[in-house]
Amino acid sequence: MDYHELSVARVVDETHDTRSFVLQVPEALQGRFRYQAGQFLTFRIPWEQGELIRCYSLASSPDVDAEYKVTVKRVAEGRVSNWFNDQLQVGDRIRVLPPSGRFVLRESEAPLLLFGGGSGITPVISLVKTALATTDRPAKLFYANRDAASVIFRAELDALVTRHPDRLEVVHHLDAEAGFADTRRLAEEIAGYENAHCYVCGPGPFMDVVEAALRSRQVPREQIFIERFVSPPDGEAPQVEVATEAEVPAEIVVHLEGRTHRVPYRKGQSILQAARAAGLEAPFACEEGYCGSCAAKKLQGQVVMAANDVFDADEVEEGWILTCQSHPTGPVCEVVYED
Ligand SMILES: Cc1cc2nc3c(=O)[nH]c(=O)nc-3n(C[C@H](O)[C@H](O)[C@H](O)COP(=O)(O)OP(=O)(O)OC[C@H]3O[C@@H](n4cnc5c(N)ncnc54)[C@H](O)[C@@H]3O)c2cc1C
Ligand code: FES
Repeated sequence: MDYHELSVARVVDETHDTRSFVLQVPEALQGRFRYQAGQFLTFRIPWEQGELIRCYSLASSPDVDAEYKVTVKRVAEGRVSNWFNDQLQVGDRIRVLPPSGRFVLRESEAPLLLFGGGSGITPVISLVKTALATTDRPAKLFYANRDAASVIFRAELDALVTRHPDRLEVVHHLDAEAGFADTRRLAEEIAGYENAHCYVCGPGPFMDVVEAALRSRQVPREQIFIERFVSPPDGEAPQVEVATEAEVPAEIVVHLEGRTHRVPYRKGQSILQAARAAGLEAPFACEEGYCGSCAAKKLQGQVVMAANDVFDADEVEEGWILTCQSHPTGPVCEVVYED
């Protein structure tokens, strides 16, 4: 996938440590940059002798907002988040991959229960705006922040509640006043929403507590959608031990968009590389094992993953793989890219 240059049309101060960047998408790229609520952009930033790659979610909604906007919160000692906030100005051009990601609304009439921790609100507010505009689904948002000054999009959320009082509830949790949200506190918020589709995004410890609370309420895994905000590891991509000649399959079976393909496989290729070499438009973005765009489910065979910052042990057990990082280690390999 090719990077494109977009220019910064507007910069918005959201809080003391967060800015939004409205990007100008030229006419010729509008098709490539069409997105679904909840998706993210991948940026390539020149850095010292090389480049750094980071993902930022679109906080705008394609169904409501004319502007194309990402929102970046400073991370202490963080390189790219501080570069965005300190350096990036109106008129600057920045290299961006088209939108990607699976943290999107699924076809359903189930209520929505959304959890945003700090900067994790960015894809979540996009989902909320789209759900309110295009469905009849009720939504409850639990939004945790350090303190009142850290709440991003406060006014926009208040306005949404005022406009949709019967459909949207926003519960603000401030650590400075109530302590960190714990499993018991979150389980109280989940009560009555066990049939909801649950969207969770935020920093690691917050996600862990929300996941534990959802488990404690026995919310089925297939109703839970998670976006982890992580940076890729620095340095060279990890090397994988590639299977011996006898273990490498001659072809891989790939199910993509309802069609089945038999894809030739060469030793050393990732599953994604093999699929794309055969002309399939298999999804990907970072190719470093942390954005989740290339996710697929393994139906048959064994693979080894060089890196994985996306799936937990249970998900790997269920067969989820990152195809950009997965190499077959046996004679058979069959995967499905789920919609
Ligand atoms: C799919 C996806 C979407 C994302 N969307 C957004 C978004 O909309 N807005 C946004 O602000 N961020 C978002 N992120 C996070 C973002 O990509 C970076 O990880 C984050 O900005 C930190 O990058 P950095 O270069 O500033 O920090 P780095 O230089 O990579 O990290 C410096 C230090 O901070 C720690 N660290 C890294 N990331 C975080 C974090 N998120 N919270 C706390 N500590 C951290 C590291 O462990 C390290 O010690 C998203 C991440 C992903 C994968
Ligand atoms: S393309 Fe990002 S994890 Fe594979």
